[in-house]
Amino acid sequence: MHPIILCGGSGSRLWPLSNPKQFQKIFSHNTIFLNTLLRLKSGYMPPVIATNIQYESLVKKELHVLREYKVIFEPVKIGTAAEIFIAALLCNENEIMLILPSDHFIGDLNNFYAYAHKASQLASETDSTVAFGVEPHEFNSEYGYINVVYYHKEKYHILKDFIEKPEHVLSNDYYWNSGIFVFKAKRHIYEIKKSAPTLYNLCFASVKHFTPQERFLYLKQRDFAGIECVSIDCLVMEKAKNVAMIEANFDWPDVGTWNSVLELSEKFTSSFRHVTKKREPVSTTESNKNLLVGS
Ligand code: GDD
Ligand code: MG
Repeated sequence: MHPIILCGGSGSRLWPLSNPKQFQKIFSHNTIFLNTLLRLKSGYMPPVIATNIQYESLVKKELHVLREYKVIFEPVKIGTAAEIFIAALLCNENEIMLILPSDHFIGDLNNFYAYAHKASQLASETDSTVAFGVEPHEFNSEYGYINVVYYHKEKYHILKDFIEKPEHVLSNDYYWNSGIFVFKAKRHIYEIKKSAPTLYNLCFASVKHFTPQERFLYLKQRDFAGIECVSIDCLVMEKAKNVAMIEANFDWPDVGTWNSVLELSEKFTSSFRHVTKKREPVSTTESNKNLLVGS
């Protein structure tokens, strides 16, 4: 699997912190971005990291933990749909891409790897965009919402409806979109070609001069004049036909807002009490690592 790490968001909802949330150290000595790199499984291919040129030094200072990688620097905010498309152009068309936001905490890593593996098999067999649906415990307008039908014959869920950040409460048969996706590179290339031909041509032209040996790929501002910044959620998930969903129960809070930071802190505090009382050895899950450092 080819991991694509998205870390070009501005994360303005954690105002007044000056750097975006992925470069903050929340409940850890590491930034959330660095923890995302450390989470990569050893069998995965070297990651492609996609960020904005403004964050060049923040990204470069963490790269020492990786042996191989590529970094794409965007001159302006181009949105996750275009960014993932550019990353797809750097992959072989049948390669499976694992799209990872860099503003998440993941609890049990082995559980997460098992879901990623299952999604990769589904993406290979069905050539669909695979999303992970998480059962919501409240209405949260900061998330995308997925409604599905169960495809009994093939035993997986297919997308019926997707709404990115709805303004109104939806019926309770919707899942939260985790923001993590798995698909073949050629599936995303096809989706962009179909729904955004101008964006397709722009991005295609912008990567032509890169050679396979280059590690740092600096996109040129003049290639993106007038680009409309759009997310994969709005461009692909709300429009695509061939989307499958895996019901996932991995622990995955997005630290997008101060509210989510507060929720996480409550979670860490209660698991800390539990660990202290039972005096169990600390396992290697990320939540426990963070707990140790933060305590
Ligand atoms: N390279 C790059 N370029 N990265 C970007 C850009 C961009 O223009 N815009 C955002 N990102 C990165 C962010 O840094 C983050 O790691 C990831 O892409 C997702 O962007 P967010 O801005 O954090 O999205 P969100 O949290 O509001 O919504 C997404 O995630 C939710 C779950 O956490 C959507 O996928 C929702 O549907 C989903 O529920
Ligand atoms: Mg987010």
